[in-house]
Amino acid sequence: MKAAIHTKYGPPEVVSIGDLPKPEPKEDEILVKVCASTVNRTDAGFRSAEYFISRFFSGLFRPHNPVLGCEFAGKVVKVGSLVTEFIPGDRVFGFNDQTWGGHGEFMVIKSGAGVTKMPDHLTYEEAAPISEGAHYALGNIMASGIKKGQQAVVYGATGAIGSAAVQLLKFFGVEVTAVCNSKNVGLVKSLGADAVISYETEDYTITKKKFKLVLML
Ligand SMILES: NC(=O)c1ccc[n+]([C@@H]2O[C@H](COP(=O)([O-])OP(=O)(O)OC[C@H]3O[C@@H](n4cnc5c(N)ncnc54)[C@H](OP(=O)(O)O)[C@@H]3O)[C@@H](O)[C@H]2O)c1
Repeated sequence: MKAAIHTKYGPPEVVSIGDLPKPEPKEDEILVKVCASTVNRTDAGFRSAEYFISRFFSGLFRPHNPVLGCEFAGKVVKVGSLVTEFIPGDRVFGFNDQTWGGHGEFMVIKSGAGVTKMPDHLTYEEAAPISEGAHYALGNIMASGIKKGQQAVVYGATGAIGSAAVQLLKFFGVEVTAVCNSKNVGLVKSLGADAVISYETEDYTITKKKFKLVLML
């Protein structure tokens, strides 16, 4: 199969298109024909390994996984013998920063990992870019221990992480004050925020509210 391959860390030039064997799913994995992916900050960070700490996950001297692409959307073409959640033909999308592979024609991912079926109304191009921001938003929300009925601020609520955070916090029953620029106030309200403050006209810190979580993005 064709893939964007990197065998050493460095600038974008270390990536080139080449051929690799098509991966074979293990018993608990699915094989996905990738229809859309993204090149995002997580991919770029692991490619450059500028933050040395990333090498403890991706390989100290060279990358273990030559094909990046943590966000993906595509079609299941084969499932391992233990997989019950998916069948060939399912349209799926997700986030895979463990074994990566979205920058190849085919990728494998564990069926219990960050992959799920796509809503019918989404195209592959719409589904692929959703998951990275949501992944970081969810990680921070869970780490905060915030509970239903408590209050949170999302500063930067129009961004990839912020827009996901507003929606996830509302899903968890949190009262959300969102901060964004004036032109996006309507958009952020439509995401479910209880109060929206423009950082161009107001200072969100002047308030009597007590926040359990302040997400600064
Ligand atoms: N996505 C990733 O892979 C990733 C990973 C690790 C860390 N991060 C960091 O997490 C942060 C958010 O990431 P993201 O992917 O959600 O970014 P993003 O999609 O580019 O969103 C950036 C946000 O910053 C807001 N912003 C820009 N200028 C501002 C200003 N002067 N005052 C207040 N808000 C301002 C924008 O809001 P307006 O449109 O309302 O101005 C927007 O909501 C960034 O600092 C990023 O470097 C991202």
